[in-house]
Amino acid sequence: MNVEMKITSSTTMVFLFLVMSANFPGTFSYTKQIPAKLNSFQLPQPKSGAASSVFLRALGSIYPLGYFAVNLTVGKPPKLFDFDFDTGSDLTWVQCDAPCTGCTKPPEKQYKPHKNIVPCSNPRCAALHWPNPPRCKHPNDQCDYEIEYGDGGSSIGALVTDLFPLRFSNGSVFNVPLTFGCGYNQHNPGPLSPPDTAGVLGLGRGRISIVSQLREYGLIRNVIGHCIGQNGRGVLFLGDGKVPSSGVAWTPMLQNSADLKHYILGPAELLYSGKSCGLKDLTLIFDSGASYAYFTSRVYQEIVSLIMRDLIGTPLKLAPDDKTLPICWRGPFKALGQVTEYFKPLALSFTNRRNSVRLVVPPEAYLVISGRKNVCLGILNGSEAEVGENNIIGEIFMQDKMVIYDNEKQRIGWKPEDCNTLLSLNHFI
Ligand SMILES: *[C@@H]1O[C@H](CO)[C@@H](O)[C@H](O)[C@H]1NC(C)=O
Ligand SMILES: *[C@@H]1O[C@H](CO)[C@@H](O)[C@H](O)[C@H]1NC(C)=O
Ligand SMILES: *[C@@H]1O[C@H](CO)[C@@H](O)[C@H](O)[C@H]1NC(C)=O
Repeated sequence: MNVEMKITSSTTMVFLFLVMSANFPGTFSYTKQIPAKLNSFQLPQPKSGAASSVFLRALGSIYPLGYFAVNLTVGKPPKLFDFDFDTGSDLTWVQCDAPCTGCTKPPEKQYKPHKNIVPCSNPRCAALHWPNPPRCKHPNDQCDYEIEYGDGGSSIGALVTDLFPLRFSNGSVFNVPLTFGCGYNQHNPGPLSPPDTAGVLGLGRGRISIVSQLREYGLIRNVIGHCIGQNGRGVLFLGDGKVPSSGVAWTPMLQNSADLKHYILGPAELLYSGKSCGLKDLTLIFDSGASYAYFTSRVYQEIVSLIMRDLIGTPLKLAPDDKTLPICWRGPFKALGQVTEYFKPLALSFTNRRNSVRLVVPPEAYLVISGRKNVCLGILNGSEAEVGENNIIGEIFMQDKMVIYDNEKQRIGWKPEDCNTLLSLNHFI
């Protein structure tokens, strides 16, 4: 989960470059080089539609992995890294051999910087610190970053720019220089935090996000979509090429001047089994970096008591010895289909001036089967999990839906979808 994000420019760590090899920029013989054009007054207008999107396969699970990852290659020669994609934070970073403290990958699987550091005076350093100005002692200092995730995990490093060979849906391959974090000091409080991937693909609303950078080059529109299936397979797309022309329930993003980085929706009303439970005016953060759903104590308590009341008289009994999640029911179960008849759908109803839309969450999208074959509730007490007074819609609620974050029109949409049909597209990297 990636809820709190703090960036400071005051880290005292020294970023050591051990390898001074091939200088950025460079090109591959079969690809075109995109010139670094950062002046916002010259920005080309990206074409809308399928021609200009990047499709990535995603693999993972809500449980036991706790993340969905995509593969991207970086550098010259290109090296493969897996990234947890996270719409709850902005900065993309990768474990970095600078050398690294707290990295989970061995040095040969880490990114090696090569004199491609981003100086503090670079507009991308300003994009990292946006909306605040970067605080640099000298314009040529490295641009430091520090991210703290909601569960206490953190990454410290410095910005670098390197080439990402990206295949667009029209078949063109471009070597795009993108700025990301070279993370040389990671702190992992738990086994899943940060996840076991080489890095995090930050897809939040902030200006340093990869999608925002691709937008600046005029390559794609600032739209992100994902579809993650219960079978552990999914799709991430950058650009608007796969946005369905109809059937999407759109709702405007909330514009909160105190939080320009997260995708926030509201006000929403909670429905249980299609009926109101008296909880209105909820604001919700859509965060693919969180595995589960987190609600404030009051909302959590209401959901749990409604579910518990409905289970009276059913064969389901609690399994308090299973510590996978706070509430589990005794199995053994092979599939969620064996228990879903005992549970009711939840829904969030968003009403604004123009329309009213619902995010319907069937039991399959709020339950998981634990390693001990019990069934557990994937809705957690946010106060207990220390994610603060936020309601967070994590990946679990978004399963088997196409979820679209449209930064161009400042709206989020979803549509029930069989993610496998999207996987049959042939333009994946
Ligand atoms: C494919 O899309 C990219 C990004 O929009 C564009 O720059 C490029 O010219 C397109 N290539 C072709 C062959 O149309
Ligand atoms: C990423 O690449 C590795 C190595 O080829 C592969 O095992 C893994 O399944 C890939 N992950 C995704 C999401 O495609
Ligand atoms: C949620 O967690 C907080 C902090 O631990 C606790 O005070 C509160 O009672 C919990 N709420 C429920 C409904 O369990």
